[in-house]
Amino acid sequence: DLGRTGDQLDLTVYAVGGFVRDLLLDIQNMDIDVTVDGDGILFAETFAAQFGCRVKSHQKFGTAVIVFPDGFKIDVASTRLEYYVSPGALPTVERSSLKMDLYRRDFTVNTLAIALNGESFGKLIDYFGAYRDLQSRVIRVLHNLSFVEDPTRVFRAIRFEQRLNFKIAKHTEDLIKNAVKMEFLEKLGGRRLLSELVQILREKEPLKGIGRMASLGLLRFIHPSIELTPAMQGALEETRYVVSWFDLLYLERPYERWSVYFLTLCEGLSEEQFLGTCTRLAVAEHYKERLVEMRKEGERLIAALERKVAGSGKVENSEIYFTLRGLPVEVLLYHMAKSRSAEVKRCISLYFTKLDGMHPQIRGEDLKELGVAPGPLYRELLDLVLSARLNGKAASREDEIRLVR
Ligand code: CTP
Repeated sequence: DLGRTGDQLDLTVYAVGGFVRDLLLDIQNMDIDVTVDGDGILFAETFAAQFGCRVKSHQKFGTAVIVFPDGFKIDVASTRLEYYVSPGALPTVERSSLKMDLYRRDFTVNTLAIALNGESFGKLIDYFGAYRDLQSRVIRVLHNLSFVEDPTRVFRAIRFEQRLNFKIAKHTEDLIKNAVKMEFLEKLGGRRLLSELVQILREKEPLKGIGRMASLGLLRFIHPSIELTPAMQGALEETRYVVSWFDLLYLERPYERWSVYFLTLCEGLSEEQFLGTCTRLAVAEHYKERLVEMRKEGERLIAALERKVAGSGKVENSEIYFTLRGLPVEVLLYHMAKSRSAEVKRCISLYFTKLDGMHPQIRGEDLKELGVAPGPLYRELLDLVLSARLNGKAASREDEIRLVR
């Protein structure tokens, strides 16, 4: 359909970039990027009118997003229009403008295009040896200044290498080392650095990416004292184990997986250093507060739990519940990985699998009926009832009412 709209408008349309890369690797990718040789916005608006979609366009960049009624999106870009102005030489001009467009990209594997117009539909366009690199599973820049132009590509190279199970080409790796040595990465703002780090930590196997970051000397950009020592490697492996365990519970409790790894990476930092790191990386203000505060609160509460475990050996379910309630999933998982006490790990796991979902069966209205005057006592009574339930001492509504009485 994209090609057909292109035919109608006499515009050449291509699918480009990551979508084509993943198509050839047989990996699902729902991010479709389309490049139009000419006016991409006109193309997007025409397509949208025909198929009942909405369009968001940026005149300044010649880009648009086609949004389908179900939320599915297609990004549309225009190749540089100045290459499009001499009508006499249209075919060559069209080709070279796409080529220029693709040349500006990060790695060869992202420079493939597939023609979508009727006659040439499905034709693979490969200006830079991308197909060869896909086959030999190599991440390679297009030119020597790639990382100077855009230092975030250092992190992208790592992300693609690990995700696709490719290898960064020798010369490309040398260019990365050079970019690190020449301190190009220092110029990168905290926000962009964080965005790249988050993407690496969101990958299925973040440990591989972290390992690569360490070997290329990139961990120090998070904080100079972070190193991949055997202890840190162990902590990260434990984090991976805990995170996979949690994901398999399918609890539908949303959390930011990257933050658990981030907390582990930062585990040796003092409170002040951690706050400084979050500020430098421009972690969103509300999220930063939550991370910093809860990390501190988590340390305190888990230490208390550890003391209890060490003291009595047995901790009541209600104690576990009221200690851990209110801590974000990220902080709980971080501590579950970090704690050396098998019993504390068991407490946190019990909290997730059983305790956290428990509620008293009676409610405020029941208390009213029982003649309790509304006020802070309600909360106390309901917590008391919940404690009994958590500890297996109230199995039914009747038990709970009896308890209140
Ligand atoms: N790109 C680039 N330099 C960057 C970021 C992006 O050259 N710093 C180019 C890449 O060639 C990429 C395209 O812009 O193919 C789109 O970027 P993005 O959507 O981030 O890349 P994808 O390849 O789709 O990656 P992902 O699969 O992670 O979404």
